[in-house]
Amino acid sequence: MSKHAHTVLKSLLSRASTDALTEPAPKGEELETILSAVMRAPDHGKLRPWRLVVVKGEARAKLADKIVASMKRLNPDADAKKIEKRHKRFSSMPMTIVLGMHLRPDDKIPLLEQELAVGAAGMNLLNALHAAGFGAVWVTGDVAYDPVLAEELGFPAPHALAGFFFVGTPEKKDHEVKRRPVAPYVAEWDGEPVSFKADKD
Ligand SMILES: Cc1cc2nc3c(=O)[nH]c(=O)nc-3n(C[C@H](O)[C@H](O)[C@H](O)COP(=O)(O)O)c2cc1C
Repeated sequence: MSKHAHTVLKSLLSRASTDALTEPAPKGEELETILSAVMRAPDHGKLRPWRLVVVKGEARAKLADKIVASMKRLNPDADAKKIEKRHKRFSSMPMTIVLGMHLRPDDKIPLLEQELAVGAAGMNLLNALHAAGFGAVWVTGDVAYDPVLAEELGFPAPHALAGFFFVGTPEKKDHEVKRRPVAPYVAEWDGEPVSFKADKD
């Protein structure tokens, strides 16, 4: 294996989500390079359905306010402690990147494929952040499916949110990632329907 292949694979195999994040978050040219990785996501029909909304600095508290309003809208009996915790989370993360979906339901490319392309963009974003030494985690929750919140962020229906990416510098450097065996999720087809060890109890 070439040195380059080894470096790339090492990065892919060592990525892990974390919300234990401190300053700094990426900025300037480095941020632009990282964000550019989403443009390399596979995309049937060149629809480029992904959209990125960067939330930093004082805007974080405004986003936290909107998240809390959404929680209350979806559940008027929402637990006050839970609300406070969520507000703190969104306002204290070094940066949040909202991944939006610019969807075209009437296009010949099926909606699912448009959503899959946004999912692939999200994966590229996580891998690019990790390769550049930053940490991140992709979260959703009920609020990510609240059309009112989506509209407030710039995604009126049929557009929607794919989630929130908390971004920063991982508190723990080089934390060990448990390598899970892939064999239970792989099968070789020989003409008959396959089954997977992962699906056997
Ligand atoms: C679309 C999507 C939504 C997710 N939403 C949440 C979430 O709301 N809360 C959460 O704790 N993890 C959520 N996760 C899982 C984390 O992002 C992460 O993948 C998981 O904690 C496993 O960590 P790993 O990426 O290091 O394997 C979501 C993942 C995806 C792909």
